[in-house]
Amino acid sequence: MADTMDTHDERTQGRARLKQLAAESLKSGDATGWFETLYQAAHGNEEAIPWAHLTADPILVEWMAGYPSSAEGKRALVVGCGLGDDAEYLAHAGYAVTAFDISQEAIAWCQRRFPDSAVRYVVADVLALPGAWSRQFDLIVEAYTLQSLPDEALRAQAAANLAQCLAPGGSLLVICRGREPDEARGMMPWPLTRAELAMFQRQGLREVSFEDLRDPEEPSVRHFRVHYTA
Ligand SMILES: C[S@@+](CC[C@H](N)C(=O)[O-])C[C@H]1O[C@@H](n2cnc3c(N)ncnc32)[C@H](O)[C@@H]1O
Repeated sequence: MADTMDTHDERTQGRARLKQLAAESLKSGDATGWFETLYQAAHGNEEAIPWAHLTADPILVEWMAGYPSSAEGKRALVVGCGLGDDAEYLAHAGYAVTAFDISQEAIAWCQRRFPDSAVRYVVADVLALPGAWSRQFDLIVEAYTLQSLPDEALRAQAAANLAQCLAPGGSLLVICRGREPDEARGMMPWPLTRAELAMFQRQGLREVSFEDLRDPEEPSVRHFRVHYTA
């Protein structure tokens, strides 16, 4: 029980610290630099990374259970992969996985955690992806990176870049916090509205399904899970 309390306290402190880091980084005109600071300051302690649950995201796992496409011979791309659990999950499901993050330390951490992994972990920025990734991926999983980009122009750039990476007939799964247009954006993470997500359709993708999910947490957290196809 004491351990649970410590873990909870550390996570709460971690969330407060990261909001402060994000605000300072934004003020200095750097929208994403604070991620590297956070990963480095953690010194390998997963409890200091608020989104690190050391297991694949249940919202992804549940969706995959109903995803009819076979993984055989297919390539998957994991966006803003953090400590790598979603990437490892997809690799175990049979995909040839590339996973990227803007943080060098996050990528090095994945490589230390999974030294024998089949996943190709690379440092990359969703705002400037390698041209060689164009139309290469049958499945792209984006979970919680868009919501950490502070403005619509950056998100639209990310959406355009991800749409470009999708192979013909491929699927893009987006998982993010959701809000109504008249709700305040608040502090990072910035939940997206359904209208904002139409940026993917403007890139020529088709929305296959849109789900509005409420976590059984208190206070309840609202997530959107959206499946697009090229
Ligand atoms: C909220 S975390 C989510 C991590 C992971 N997807 C998960 O669900 O645990 C957002 C991740 O996106 C990464 N990130 C932020 N901006 C990025 C960018 N421009 N390009 C690539 N990764 C980025 C961060 O370093 C961080 O690991």
